[in-house]
Amino acid sequence: VKTIGVLTSGGDAPGMNAAIRAVVRTAIANGVRVMGIKRGYAGLLEEDIEEMDTLSVSNIIQLGGTILYTARCKEFREKEYQEKAAEICRKHGIDGIVVIGGDGSFQGASKLAALGINTVGVPGTIDLDIACTEYTIGFDTAINTAMEAMDKLRDTSESHERCSIVEVMGRTAGHIALWTGIASGAEYILTTEEYDGNIQKIIEKIQQRHKIGKKNHVIVNAEGVGNSFEMAKMIEEATGVETRATVLGHIQRGGNPTCKDRVYASAMGAKAVELLCDGKTNRVVGYTNGEFVDYDIQAALDMEKGLDPYLFHITKKLTTY
Ligand code: F6P
Repeated sequence: VKTIGVLTSGGDAPGMNAAIRAVVRTAIANGVRVMGIKRGYAGLLEEDIEEMDTLSVSNIIQLGGTILYTARCKEFREKEYQEKAAEICRKHGIDGIVVIGGDGSFQGASKLAALGINTVGVPGTIDLDIACTEYTIGFDTAINTAMEAMDKLRDTSESHERCSIVEVMGRTAGHIALWTGIASGAEYILTTEEYDGNIQKIIEKIQQRHKIGKKNHVIVNAEGVGNSFEMAKMIEEATGVETRATVLGHIQRGGNPTCKDRVYASAMGAKAVELLCDGKTNRVVGYTNGEFVDYDIQAALDMEKGLDPYLFHITKKLTTY
């Protein structure tokens, strides 16, 4: 490849800038030009493309967000727009693209690969819901942000002898809930994968524990399980324990990336460029069994992933689930 494009797509994630920086610097070190594509596939379709150099990625490794901006582009699911995008790539001399994003973004990358543009996906999402990898860019920062918020919520929940429901992101995946629930010593961790929707069971547990002197209760609720405010109301009405719901929301997507996110994102960005320079296409970078590896995008998209079974197993003893 002579010229590669780099874009970020879907929800942003802390560490994306570190990945962009690694893509740009590795490409230039290999004698390859780099074009920054703004706002994901939407920007590609609008030809919002600019050449990048080593200076354009100076002082960004520590920043959350993405200097390339990001977007969710529905149009890109249609063949007409995929063909237009491939044409635009050819027009700009872009023969390879690094796509930093989640599963949806990889679908798009795979379509571009089929149209002759070399593509490599880099997993960037706070949700950790990409099956081919044990690590996704942004997850580590997001869980640390959520954990710190939960520590604070526990303080006030304890002073007031309340129950606190904390809703974390993850769309349909419960990884953020599981990790932050364990890390913050939550009494209950509700995930989309494992929670059976029986709030009565939780109410009974709170009542039992209240009787033996437990004064406050922290429930971590994964987004997608149910409305935390309604659940809080039901718990308060049934138990008499004052209950507050807090939705952590988009603060989980921002902030300076942790050391792990900066380092792993750098490695993944560099690996993506190395793959393109080796003539590989339609690949996705992953981190498995202690190594940075790569898979065929379609094979990666066909893989399935649940919650870490051992982490889930220990929650049965560490929480009152
Ligand atoms: O995929 C990342 C994520 O933050 C999910 O956890 C969440 O469901 C979704 O994006 C929110 O999307 P938006 O920022 O478009 O509201």
